[in-house]
Amino acid sequence: MTAHLIDGNDLSRKIRAEVAHRTAALKARGVEPKLHIILVGEDPASQVYTKHKVKDSTETGLQATLETCPADLSEGALLDRIRALNADPLVHGILVQLPLPKHMDTQKVIETISPAKDVDGFHVASAGALMVGQPGFWPCTPYGCMKMLESIGYDLRGKHAVVIGRSNIVGKPMALMLLQKNATVTICHSATADLAALTRQADVIVAAVGKRNVLTADMVKPGAVVIDVGMNRNDEGKLCGDVDFDGVRQVAGWITPVPGGVGPMTRAMLLVNTLEAAERANA
Ligand code: GUN
Repeated sequence: MTAHLIDGNDLSRKIRAEVAHRTAALKARGVEPKLHIILVGEDPASQVYTKHKVKDSTETGLQATLETCPADLSEGALLDRIRALNADPLVHGILVQLPLPKHMDTQKVIETISPAKDVDGFHVASAGALMVGQPGFWPCTPYGCMKMLESIGYDLRGKHAVVIGRSNIVGKPMALMLLQKNATVTICHSATADLAALTRQADVIVAAVGKRNVLTADMVKPGAVVIDVGMNRNDEGKLCGDVDFDGVRQVAGWITPVPGGVGPMTRAMLLVNTLEAAERANA
């Protein structure tokens, strides 16, 4: 058996088209949805990511501003800037690109963003809203994974989902989203005693560790859905995920590729959250 591909490029195109449509409707009511991105310092990867976020936004009709600040900006100055943006009714989404310089307390910075504008979904209020099933913003990567499962019409009720990784940004929110759809969820991590014994029982596996070949074919039940959140480089410098794609695709029922899987979905869900923030502010 060879697994069906869940094409993140294709699905994200559809989602972006829907965002463009809803954005046009909001603009017709005189509302200009706007994302404000703050980049502190000159980390090359962050410079690329933030440029992508601006390009994605403008292509779908959203306004986006990229504000760059020197690496030695004080934490107090950044917090003041965020507070000013919180108070600006023309700004709907605020995103502070991570990582921040070492002299800043990242969590304190995130908690300063108004939860109503927290389009990353990283604020404790956003995490709490997800936990109790209240409206809030979902972190873009696990949200995108849920959209991928939805796109294949997968019913999670009663299924065993195994999440590998327990980060605040992916693993933990992913587990809560799967639980909300009535899956039985297991979270695995670096101290898990027998990872393969658990993944072999799984109907759905989400690999979000940041390490190559965390999941190999012998660890997967035939027909399982495999979602690969990883973004790594192999020995030849080629982009690859956490999953041994060539091996696992022979066993799985569905699989997401890297590149062209979760990555474009993460980018698309930021647009969804930004639009949603503008819609809620003007409901
Ligand atoms: N750095 C890498 N990914 C992200 C992200 O999704 N949001 C923010 N704010 N910073 C990041």
